[in-house]
Amino acid sequence: MATRQLQLVEVGPRDGFQVILPFIPTETKIAICRGLIASGVQRLEIGAFVSPTAIPQMRDIREVLAALRSDKTKVELCALVPNRRGAEDALAAGLDALVYVASASESHNRNNVRRPVAESMAEMIACLNELRPAGRFRFNLATAFHCPFEGPTPHAAVLAMIEAVLAVRTDAEIALCDTTGYAAPQDVTALTEAVRKRFGVGVQLAYHGHDTYGFGLASTLAAWDAGIDVIDAAVAGLGGCPFAPGAMGNMATEDLVYAFQRLGIATGIDIAKLNAIANACAGLPGANFGGHLRNVARARAASDHAARLWSDPALAD
Ligand code: COA
Ligand code: ZN
Repeated sequence: MATRQLQLVEVGPRDGFQVILPFIPTETKIAICRGLIASGVQRLEIGAFVSPTAIPQMRDIREVLAALRSDKTKVELCALVPNRRGAEDALAAGLDALVYVASASESHNRNNVRRPVAESMAEMIACLNELRPAGRFRFNLATAFHCPFEGPTPHAAVLAMIEAVLAVRTDAEIALCDTTGYAAPQDVTALTEAVRKRFGVGVQLAYHGHDTYGFGLASTLAAWDAGIDVIDAAVAGLGGCPFAPGAMGNMATEDLVYAFQRLGIATGIDIAKLNAIANACAGLPGANFGGHLRNVARARAASDHAARLWSDPALAD
């Protein structure tokens, strides 16, 4: 069997920054994105093409994209879009990949993008048929496991939405998003198996989790064990949804990288460089951060064992 390759998608500049209220200067956003790329990140969600009234933090996404484009980076840059206007703007700005969001639950979809699920889906399908985005198309299937207003999401709702997207774009990447962080590892396994049973092993799946109840790493590993190779994480464990009360940060990227290194699975990330960016992100005014590795690094930096930290075989890339 061929060795599996982990594809890590760094979502901190979108999922993380969207819940930070003080405006992060554009230059700071660009510097953080550049730092993430320098640490080895291969897929980066740089922000969202959304209404500046809904998420004021995202109003400078074009400047961030233009700066990263001027670097001629080969890293895949993606952004979240909530409607046709966002998709058109993102494509016009030269984004590599679209991340179109819709929720499985009515209440979260109405709260998040202010329309019924059926309308979101119809608009997404129209975008696929009419705009025909050339790059990667990802469907962020929000509240795939649980809705903060309605509780657990029935598998049938998730399967119906996936079916609708695959009918027009067979190579769509479907991200099962645990928007609230409520899913336990067995929930991740069960939904992944249900999707595979219905659509086969060919469907491209991704997992997007939050660490609200401390299940972040366990659920992420459950996704990997269930055969999902594309995993989202946010540097410093930033993250949350302004329209999902109680949702905490994403799985911290540096913790994920460390865990995969301990499992002997290459990530291509320089963990020391990533840790430095994580510290910078945790220091952003208004940031809600999480994760463990930064604390270990800080504690050991103050001790005689500091020198051994980054030469720890488990931390070597
Ligand atoms: N980008 C920028 N502006 C947009 C936009 C987009 N993708 N879509 C709509 N707008 C603008 C409209 O032009 C209009 O501007 P105006 O008031 O100056 O005329 C305004 O936003 C309202 O447009 P409307 O179509 O009535 O949208 P709405 O108020 O019903 O809001 C969304 C719908 C989807 C635009 C908004 O809820 C949104 O951006 N949500 C994002 C949610 C999000 O990012 N959640 C976290 C990630 S999951
Ligand atoms: Zn999220």
